[in-house]
Order: sequence, then C-alpha cells, then structure tokens
Amino acid sequence: MDYHKEVIVILDFGSQYTQLIARKIRELGVYCEILPFSATLNNITSRNPKGIVLSGGPKSVNDADAPVCDLGIFPLDIPILGICYGLQLTVKLFGGRVEKSAKREYGMARLVIEKKEPLLDGIQDGSTVWMSHQDKVLRMPDGFKTIAHSDNSPHAVIKSVEGRIYGVQFHPEVHHTQKGRKILRNFLYKICKVKGVFSLKSFVDAATERIKKKVGDNKVVCALSGGVDSSVVATLIHRAIGDNLRCIFVNNGVLRKNEAAEVLDLFKDRLHMNLKYVDAEEMFLAALKGVKDPERKRKIIGKTFIKIFEAEAKAMGDVRYLAQGTLYPDVIESTSSKGPSATIKSHHNVGGLPRRMKLTLLEPLRELFKDEVRIVGKELGLPDSLIHRQPFPGPGLAVRIIGDVTRERLHILKEADSIVRDEIERNDRFRHIWQSFAILIPVKTVGVMGDERTYANVIALRVVESKDGMTADWTRLPYAILDKVSRRIINEAPGVNRVVYDISSKPPSTIEWE
Ligand code: XMP
Repeated sequence: MDYHKEVIVILDFGSQYTQLIARKIRELGVYCEILPFSATLNNITSRNPKGIVLSGGPKSVNDADAPVCDLGIFPLDIPILGICYGLQLTVKLFGGRVEKSAKREYGMARLVIEKKEPLLDGIQDGSTVWMSHQDKVLRMPDGFKTIAHSDNSPHAVIKSVEGRIYGVQFHPEVHHTQKGRKILRNFLYKICKVKGVFSLKSFVDAATERIKKKVGDNKVVCALSGGVDSSVVATLIHRAIGDNLRCIFVNNGVLRKNEAAEVLDLFKDRLHMNLKYVDAEEMFLAALKGVKDPERKRKIIGKTFIKIFEAEAKAMGDVRYLAQGTLYPDVIESTSSKGPSATIKSHHNVGGLPRRMKLTLLEPLRELFKDEVRIVGKELGLPDSLIHRQPFPGPGLAVRIIGDVTRERLHILKEADSIVRDEIERNDRFRHIWQSFAILIPVKTVGVMGDERTYANVIALRVVESKDGMTADWTRLPYAILDKVSRRIINEAPGVNRVVYDISSKPPSTIEWE
C-alpha cells in the first residue's frame, strides 16, 4: 500500500514541538504532513487524512488574534486529537470555558485515569506527563467527557461522547511524557485505525519508483558536495536511473583536508556513479586573492561555482532535471518561523539556476526530516562517517580563515582542522555535537619552543551544540580532549604556537567567526 494513502494531517498552531509530533507519528509507521492552522478545508481533505492532530501553540484561545482552524474539520468523519492549545481550542469551539490560570503549569504531572478508554490503553494511573500551559479548561462543553485529570488540570484528557474527538492537555510527543508514544500509538492504531505502512525502507522503494516514472530516459544533473543531503539525493537517484544521473563535484580549493579524494573514492570508485570531477582550485583561489570581507568571499565562491556548474552541465548535452536536496522543513508552510535550514541555505542560494538553465527541479527528499535523511542514507548503504557528518558551509574554509585566503594559510588551517575532525567529529562519543572546527585568526603571538622564541599563528577552536544552527551553546568538552587537540595542533600543524577555545554562545555570537 502506498504510504500516501494513509496520511495524518497535523495543523500547526505554532508550537515549538510541531515537528516533533510529526517525527513521532512517522516513527510509529504512519506518514504525516504539517499544514498551517489556516489551511483550507479543501487542502486538508484533498489529502484524505485518516486523522487530524491539532498542535500546541504559544497563544491563548481567548486572545483576540487567537489562531483558529477551519471549523469544517469537526463534522467530518475523521478522528481528531488536540494537543494543549489544540485541546483548549476544541473546548472553546464547542462551547466550553477556558481561562488563564493564576499559575502556569510547567513540568511533570501525574495522570489520574478516570475512565478506561482506547486512547489510554496500557497507560497506568500515576504515569508522568509533561505539561506546559497557562490556560486551562474550567467548564467542559456539552457532548464531551473527561477521561483523566492531573493535580492542576481537572480535564487533562477529554473525549467527545461519540468517541471521535480527543484532547490532551499535556505533550505526548516529548520524551518526558512517560507513555507519550503509547498514547500517540493508541490514537493512530485504535482510533484512526491505520495499518502503519510507512517506514524509511518503504520510502526508499517508493521514491525510487517515483523517480523512475518521472524521469524516464531523461538525464539528471546533480551537484555533489559530499555533504549528507546531496550524497543521499545522488545515491537515491542513482539507484533509480543509474548512469542517467550525472554528478558534478567541484573542488573549490576551500574544502577540508582529503575531502576531494574521499568523495571521489566513495562515489566514483565504490558506488560507480557517473561523476565529473572539476578541479577548480586555481580559479577559486585566484578569484579570492586579497579578499578579506566574508560576504564578498561568499559571493565570489557562489558565483564562481554557478559559472563552472552551468558550463559543465551544458557540456553534458540534453540534461532535463536538476537534483536538489531540499528537505521537509524547507517545504513546510508553517505558522512558526520558517525552517532553520531555509535560513542556512540562503547563504549559498543557487535558486535562480534551474530557471536560467531551463531545468526542472527533482527534489526526492522533500518529504523528509534531517534525521530521516540520515536513516535513508544508511538504508542506501552510505558509510556512517558520511551519514553523521557535521554541516559544512558552502564557502568552506574561506569563512574560517579570517582575512586573506592564501595557499599557505589554507594549508595551516586544513592541518589543524583535520586534527579536530579526527579527535571530535570522528569520535562516536561526540555525536551530539553540532559542529567542531578550527579557525585561523590573523594574529601572531609569541611562544617558546625548545630554547627558541617563536612568533606564530593562533588557532581558535569552536565546538558547539545546537538543534538547527539558529541558536547554539559552546560544548563543555572534557579537559583531556581539549588538551589532546591543543597539543596535536601545536605539534603537527605548521606555524601554530597557540590554541584558544571559544566559549561564547549564539546569540550573541555566531557559530562561524568569518
Ligand atoms: P552562523 O555563523 O550564522 O551559522 O551562526 C549558522 C549555521 O550556518 C552555517 N553557515 C553557512 N552555511 N553557507 C552555508 O552553507 C554559508 O555561507 C554559511 N555561513 C554559515 C554554519 O556553519 C552554521 O551551521
């Protein structure tokens, strides 16, 4: 069965957890899509959903500008689950009373079950749930009953009498809710009565078929960067159409040490892809000569890349499609701010390319979240080292060399950076780290080596944890690791006599130094 035939629609009222709800539902074997709360009834029903989830949100249902969904969803014969704001909205719309309580209920609460109901099957009395709300239900609407409460929430779980509409005051999607997964599972399998046909393996098979059907005998061009998204896109399309996928890998001279060789080894030698390697190091370095301003570096790198890519793709002849690693967070039309990757990607936006080159976009990952892309990569046989790669900016080491990008300075940074990669990125203990890298600062300081005075470069170490790159905190690395990295850099990287550790968070700092 095609997993698109069994869809859950999540209406997003702006909760920070909306994407988490989607991830959890998919992990439970059901495909789901996030739509803005303002989606039209037509838009919702055109997906033929088996169930609708109303997310939480930052507003109060009593606010003048409180978000409200199309009321037409309630009379449909489709089960509904309101979470937090979603529950309060349901109560209010059906004539109940919701008021701001004096005290915000935040954190753990214990659930007391009043009635045995399919939604709470397998949930014990006293099970902990995670609350985060200020409004609470004071009077239930007619036609609804309470099936569980907590100390602070007399109506923590509610259902409509006929058993189609449910609401939970807490957040079943966060891991602090002990049996949250079970509650979502009950909603999906016992109330929406789904079969559960979605898995990332089913995605790979379906996506392969879709690509084959769409592309036919035409040719697809793909800019391979060696990052997770473009690698998974290329491998998936290659699985579908083999040699009709033409990959272009441009060495812009500001890649990490050995990176070009690693990409060629994997994609050309091991996966036998039709891959054109363009060594454009000279061209990029010449264009970057004397440029200190990071924005100018970005523009030069972006423009030079497009020029080369366009020429190479033209030389391939009759290419019809351009493959791109667009992910679901870029696609979601959300009430909350746009997905983080949208912001990151605008840095190296090549958006105008397909139209200029008269190519049609092929975006086989548009349904997936980043974690899912990693699992698909594994499913496709890509090595762990690639799947768990940290994000690496398009303009590469050029924004990590503060000031002039010269061959000599690139060499210093590549050596220092590769030590950081060895000790941190490639160490499974540090998989939770978002990015770890070295920066070359345009400052020299005095040191002493043996009996000699040195006057050499400083390397800064930046190691941060983050969910999406929008905010970040510096990592409290164990001293032993800091010590090892620092010693290795000073001993092994040429012309470095000092290493410093960046202990600033974002905001107010940024992740890159530039
Ligand atoms: P900042 O420095 O703004 O970085 O805190 C946030 C995230 O974006 C990445 N980044 C870039 N990625 N092209 C990219 O593809 C760029 O020009 C660029 N600048 C920053 C950065 O590595 C971090 O993950």
